[in-house]
Amino acid sequence: MSRKEPSDRQYWDARYAAQEPEHHAQPTPFVASCLPQLPRRGYALDVAAGTGRNSAALAAHGLWVEAVDVSAPGLHRALQLARRRQVTIQPIVLDLTRNWLPLRRYDVVVNSFFLMRELIPAIKQALKPGGWVVFETFTLAQYEISPQRVRSREHLLKPGELSQLFGDFLTISYWEGVEGDRATARLLARKPD
Ligand SMILES: C[S@@+](CC[C@H](N)C(=O)[O-])C[C@H]1O[C@@H](n2cnc3c(N)ncnc32)[C@H](O)[C@@H]1O
Repeated sequence: MSRKEPSDRQYWDARYAAQEPEHHAQPTPFVASCLPQLPRRGYALDVAAGTGRNSAALAAHGLWVEAVDVSAPGLHRALQLARRRQVTIQPIVLDLTRNWLPLRRYDVVVNSFFLMRELIPAIKQALKPGGWVVFETFTLAQYEISPQRVRSREHLLKPGELSQLFGDFLTISYWEGVEGDRATARLLARKPD
């Protein structure tokens, strides 16, 4: 009998249940480095927010944050983190494969360590004109560094891919490379007015 792979939701629910509450309590260094350039008012979407490390930082920056993820235990932890930081976030349990995002609602969209290529047109439409996208995730080089940590190579960016995916946006900064044991691409860009 073949063993059935857990769904994404089951996989992440189990991971989050096993984590210490303080695991990943700080925003990623890239998101933290972008904050000074981001607006302090308006709506932000944290795509696949997980346990909310970036959501809490965006809320502390002044934004109204909608934190979307398929994992209810992850978002429960995100709420706890926000409370500890004395900020408010709006958790939304949603499977993003359903491709639901509101139109022209957000001033900022953050997508950190999550890659769903089919969602990118919806992310672009969900941004207001002039809105900001902060996008970072692993590249294919990560598979060479630690194949055992890669669930699927489909979730890894090809060389130059992130830049191409947002080629119709105004690039503020772009970086792709290896730091320590992590191979990532990072983009800060704005939707044209
Ligand atoms: C590597 S974690 C990144 C979490 C967060 N962005 C961060 O950087 O800390 C990937 C997240 O994607 C979420 N996820 C996976 N598939 C999803 C889906 N179909 N819809 C919504 N969230 C999903 C998981 O629950 C998990 O929280």
